[in-house]
Amino acid sequence: MKIAVLGGTGSLGKGLVLRLASLGYDVIVGSRDVKKAEAKAEEYGKILGINIKGSDNRKAAIECDLAIITIPWKHAFDTAKELKDELAKKIVVSPIVPMEKSANGFVYVNLPEGSAAEKLASILPDSKIVSAYHNIPAKKFADLNAEFEWDVAVCGDDAESKRIVIEITNKIKGLRALDAGSLSNSRIVESLTPLLINIAINNGMKDLGIKFI
Ligand SMILES: NC(=O)c1ccc[n+]([C@@H]2O[C@H](COP(=O)([O-])OP(=O)(O)OC[C@H]3O[C@@H](n4cnc5c(N)ncnc54)[C@H](OP(=O)(O)O)[C@@H]3O)[C@@H](O)[C@H]2O)c1
Repeated sequence: MKIAVLGGTGSLGKGLVLRLASLGYDVIVGSRDVKKAEAKAEEYGKILGINIKGSDNRKAAIECDLAIITIPWKHAFDTAKELKDELAKKIVVSPIVPMEKSANGFVYVNLPEGSAAEKLASILPDSKIVSAYHNIPAKKFADLNAEFEWDVAVCGDDAESKRIVIEITNKIKGLRALDAGSLSNSRIVESLTPLLINIAINNGMKDLGIKFI
């Protein structure tokens, strides 16, 4: 399966590219800038001792079977709009968390559509949207020596697409994917991320994830 990580040059993208490529998936690092994509793909490939491809987001979206949009929420939706045709009929994974900093710490931004995943679904009506990976701390995830046991709540309205994302995620050591129901539940999962960050800051902790026990 070909997996494009759009905006794969950033924090969460790095961890996903490294971990998925190390499992043998054919991963493409996407970027607005092909040179940046190629440089990052080379950097990630060197870490694993394999070749990883980098290309602009459009080409990555055309070539893939499944795309993960690892772009900050203020820009991710515009990128999705530009790639609507290229992403049609494909699984598109949203780890997007709409949040901002306030005087009281980080707050979840309520979007009119209900969640980032539902907004993405409204922009990409011909794609199969699955939401996942919102609660993963990117830096620790990208450290291949790090040990963790995190759950990944996966939401989606297309059962087969959700099953595929759960299957892929469960192959990543230290992650357990759980079916969290329909896409409309994504708002709950997304809103846990600013909570995790606030708890970390207020209690001198770092790299918090979630675990259901
Ligand atoms: N960081 C985390 O710990 C974490 C955890 C869970 C979920 N998430 C979610 O994952 C997504 C990515 O987070 P991140 O921390 O990895 O982000 P990031 O490192 O700040 O940015 C990721 C990439 O987004 C692209 N980008 C930046 N501005 C853009 C624009 N105007 N238009 C198109 N692309 C743009 C850049 O790629 P190019 O310059 O190469 O195009 C950048 O490398 C976010 O939606 C976030 O909510 C993050």
